[in-house]
Amino acid sequence: MEILGICGSLRRESWNLKLLHREMEAFASLGHDTRIFDLAPVPMYHPDDEAARGIPPAAESLRRAIREADAIVVACPEYNSSMTSALKNALEWASRRGNVLQNRVFFVIGTGPGRSACARMHMHATYSLESEGAIVVHQPRVLLPTVTNFMAQDGSITDQSVTDLLAQAAESVIWTAERLSRK
Ligand SMILES: Cc1cc2nc3c(=O)[nH]c(=O)nc-3n(C[C@H](O)[C@H](O)[C@H](O)COP(=O)(O)O)c2cc1C
Repeated sequence: MEILGICGSLRRESWNLKLLHREMEAFASLGHDTRIFDLAPVPMYHPDDEAARGIPPAAESLRRAIREADAIVVACPEYNSSMTSALKNALEWASRRGNVLQNRVFFVIGTGPGRSACARMHMHATYSLESEGAIVVHQPRVLLPTVTNFMAQDGSITDQSVTDLLAQAAESVIWTAERLSRK
């Protein structure tokens, strides 16, 4: 299967990007193809620009990547008790002119240095995705507080239970995608 990763943080040293890499490795070890799409070049959604010039190339690339994936893993920090604007912007582009979120299998994960486990980010992202017809895998939860307790600066996982959780999550997403994904 084709597994797409999207990180809601644009920060080069993002903890969530590092976590996303580890989760994608769990899919790869099950024999699946993985790629990560960088949201940084995707412009802010602007209805007037869209009306005048259509969907810009970077947003169209994002839409194509979502359309072609069997499952999409989103890793996102919590910003202001919600998802980041980069992720919300991506979902706005994805939902326009032929909604590519419909019937796509998504899995939303998150981490950060604080004690919050990104639950509000997860709730808001899930609400937007499901409202647009996406199928969100809810178990197991990969919402992990206090990132330095289980990840080194280089992104390696230092806690075997987290490695096991990422493997279990990959199996759960594949199980769902095999049954429900409609490209
Ligand atoms: C604008 C902004 C808002 C934030 N809001 C929250 C928040 O509501 N809850 C929280 O736990 N952390 C919050 N943080 C801290 C981020 O979770 C933290 O910076 C995290 O490392 C960002 O993820 P990243 O490492 O993947 O870039 C916020 C950070 C920024 C820049």
